[in-house]
Amino acid sequence: MGKVIGIDIGGTKINGGVIDQEGNILRRTSKETSKSGNAIDVLETLSCVIDELIDDEIIGIGIGAPGFIDSNQGKVLSVGGNIQGWAETDIKSYLNKKYDVKIQVENDANVAAICEGWLGAGAGMDSFVMITIGTGLGGGIFIKESGILRGAHFQAGELGHSILHPRGHKCSCGQKGCVEMYVSGTAIESHYFKMRGLSLTGKEVLDSYRTDEIAKVVVDNFTFDLATFIISLKNIFDPEGIIIGGGVIDSKEIWWDNMILSFSEGVNDSANLKILPAKFRNDSGMIGAARAIFNIL
Ligand code: BGC
Repeated sequence: MGKVIGIDIGGTKINGGVIDQEGNILRRTSKETSKSGNAIDVLETLSCVIDELIDDEIIGIGIGAPGFIDSNQGKVLSVGGNIQGWAETDIKSYLNKKYDVKIQVENDANVAAICEGWLGAGAGMDSFVMITIGTGLGGGIFIKESGILRGAHFQAGELGHSILHPRGHKCSCGQKGCVEMYVSGTAIESHYFKMRGLSLTGKEVLDSYRTDEIAKVVVDNFTFDLATFIISLKNIFDPEGIIIGGGVIDSKEIWWDNMILSFSEGVNDSANLKILPAKFRNDSGMIGAARAIFNIL
């Protein structure tokens, strides 16, 4: 069988790779996601990523995209995640006009869960909840018998939009107090900016944890909120595992142990829940998007 292109459209970067049936990344490239607020610019960047990777051996393109995604039609529905102007974008139709191969579009966190269930931290588990912490907070719910839960309106697993702090910060989805307003790279960035008036990236704030008191307060709040959120996930789903991926996992040495401690101190019955980092870190979206294509070929 040929190879496929797997793409992960993130809030800051579009990562793409040529991936074989075993999930190996043979080649890869990455470009900044357009910040213009114009979905057409994002689609054009997406095409550039594909053009760099495509050749005669490619038999399909799998896309993981933020937002409520109708995976049957390959389009974004009412909520477009952290890309402005992304809602209602018909990704599949756009790509079908340019590329004569199978195209499958899925939610970005769902494809990350597909990857981790296939080859990663969730392999062999009967059920797990995947969360990706990056620009936003994505979620994927996997149950062995039925696979990924998509919901009645392709809104299942939108865990970043469950409410953590009622009447809290306004989210881009229109609600107030969504988890991703407190547990995401963007949240770390904006909370730090509010407290210190200095504009650092989420990663820079995390890196300053041991040298900057304000960064420590911001990251400790993030960690406590993440632990609190995991307690709720445990009580709602009682999964075998919770797997954490997304860009923020690359700084896990800074917050992981405190998160586990807060979880253990706050939870009623941990039920031996396995809380694990994603094996493929931030590559799980790309690999899972490729797997979504192999699944339909
Ligand atoms: C979007 C989700 C997405 C997540 C991570 C959220 O804002 O609503 O669909 O999975 O960000 O990108």
